[in-house]
Amino acid sequence: MRLFAFLVSCLWLVGCEASSSTNNQQVLQNLIERSAHTVAIGQNMVRFSYLCDTHRVKEMDQVFTPNCFINLPDKGFQNLHGVDQFIKNFPKYANYNFQHVTSPPVVDLDDSMTTAHATTLVIATVFDSFNTSKARPEEVEYGSYITDHVLTKAGWRIQNMTVSTFGEWDS
Ligand SMILES: *[C@@H]1O[C@H](CO)[C@@H](O)[C@H](O)[C@H]1NC(C)=O
Ligand SMILES: *[C@@H]1O[C@H](CO)[C@@H](O)[C@H](O)[C@H]1NC(C)=O
Repeated sequence: MRLFAFLVSCLWLVGCEASSSTNNQQVLQNLIERSAHTVAIGQNMVRFSYLCDTHRVKEMDQVFTPNCFINLPDKGFQNLHGVDQFIKNFPKYANYNFQHVTSPPVVDLDDSMTTAHATTLVIATVFDSFNTSKARPEEVEYGSYITDHVLTKAGWRIQNMTVSTFGEWDS
């Protein structure tokens, strides 16, 4: 009888071990999946910044949905409906050199992993417009990008981008 009880408790322990390792695997699987989405969303934010800085604005369709909403404090970028409007208005800044430095975003991914909300810290420096032989910061903008993201067949895209600033963000 004792031996039987011993065997039962052994089996019980083995069972527990197996189910806890299944749980761990599920947790890990979920974490890997969420991390992949989070990285892809972060890449979009960095790509947006990099495309702005290198003036490769025509490639913004890799970043935004066609019908996105963009509201940035800079002149020409307020209350824009559609990525085409952003591309059309961008040449206003053709003579400016700037650099966006962004943080990895804080991403809130919904359970379906097809929509997300993100906050990305940003410092954007605008350099002397017409003299690039010496990069002289003309203006520095501090704030956060507040963004909504959707998973499309082509990958993650920004659906809504606004900015929250600590002070005046003005050019
Ligand atoms: C650009 O800036 C440099 C360094 O301050 C200066 O030597 C040069 O004369 C400037 N060029 C123009 C066109 O203003
Ligand atoms: C875009 O996001 C901002 C900030 O979260 C929100 O106030 C605004 O209503 C959103 N606009 C659209 C068109 O979704």
